[in-house]
Amino acid sequence: MRLDVLTIFPEYLDPLRHALLGKAIESGRLQVGVHDLRQWATDRHKSVDDTPYGGGPGMVMKPSVWGPALDDVIAGTGPAATARDLETSLAHKKLAPLDDPDSAGGGEGGNDGDGGGTTAPRGPVVVVPTPAGKPFTQEMAARWSKEEHLVFACGRYEGIDQRVVDDAARNYRVEEVSIGDYVLIGGEVAGLVMAEAVVRLIPGVLGNQASHEEDSFQDGLLEGPSYTKPRQWRGLDVPEVLFSGNHGLVDRWRREQALLRTQQRRPELIEKLRAAGGLSAADEQVLDAHREA
Ligand code: 6GU
Repeated sequence: MRLDVLTIFPEYLDPLRHALLGKAIESGRLQVGVHDLRQWATDRHKSVDDTPYGGGPGMVMKPSVWGPALDDVIAGTGPAATARDLETSLAHKKLAPLDDPDSAGGGEGGNDGDGGGTTAPRGPVVVVPTPAGKPFTQEMAARWSKEEHLVFACGRYEGIDQRVVDDAARNYRVEEVSIGDYVLIGGEVAGLVMAEAVVRLIPGVLGNQASHEEDSFQDGLLEGPSYTKPRQWRGLDVPEVLFSGNHGLVDRWRREQALLRTQQRRPELIEKLRAAGGLSAADEQVLDAHREA
């Protein structure tokens, strides 16, 4: 996968080089380009925003800057052609080779799509982080993890001139997305959040594929508690059942813990799962037994 980020705060995206994402870069599964939007500013002050039509507080980011910037980043032209890809922060070391050399990408940075050879190239998904977007979900992360090219257009929270989004949507799949009901200063941190959620789902990036089959949300429930050694710590015991050696019993207990935690913290998720037919009779019994009278 190739991931490009357009921002006025490129250094904000440095965390992309670390840990899991750095490893994904190192192993060739991910290429990242971070681009300073001001490279596309045309006046001597390199201004990227202006006062809003209709009045009101804050500033709106200019279409005359964003338009050419997006065009170049998507096509790998102009200032985006000479940008160096982000390098991993990790010391260079041998990593397991990729199963599929086609998915490694040669750092070509282009928009030629189709790495698999079976589907037509569809161009990038352009993600616009905004508190006014639709909620980012695990389903979205899974969908995007299968894309060849994601472009994050990070603007300040007052927003980007809407015509930038409307114009991009004439040629690309554009998604205006929020990471939650609170307001951040800009889209950068939200972009990082989404990038991390997406990249960890790219095959081979997480060591253990099963570890995201059990993720919270993967089955519509929050994950229950986990424990490791020592068996007793500060007077607190690990639940007895985890020493039973009975996998069936442990699985049932974990399901129960997940159900009860979800009921308590996110009751709307239980309702959603029930409506989708995702609760068994045994599940309902567990929830019933713990329902407050
Ligand atoms: Cl995606 N952007 C900003 N600026 N604030 C947010 C957000 C995004 N999601 C929640 N708050």
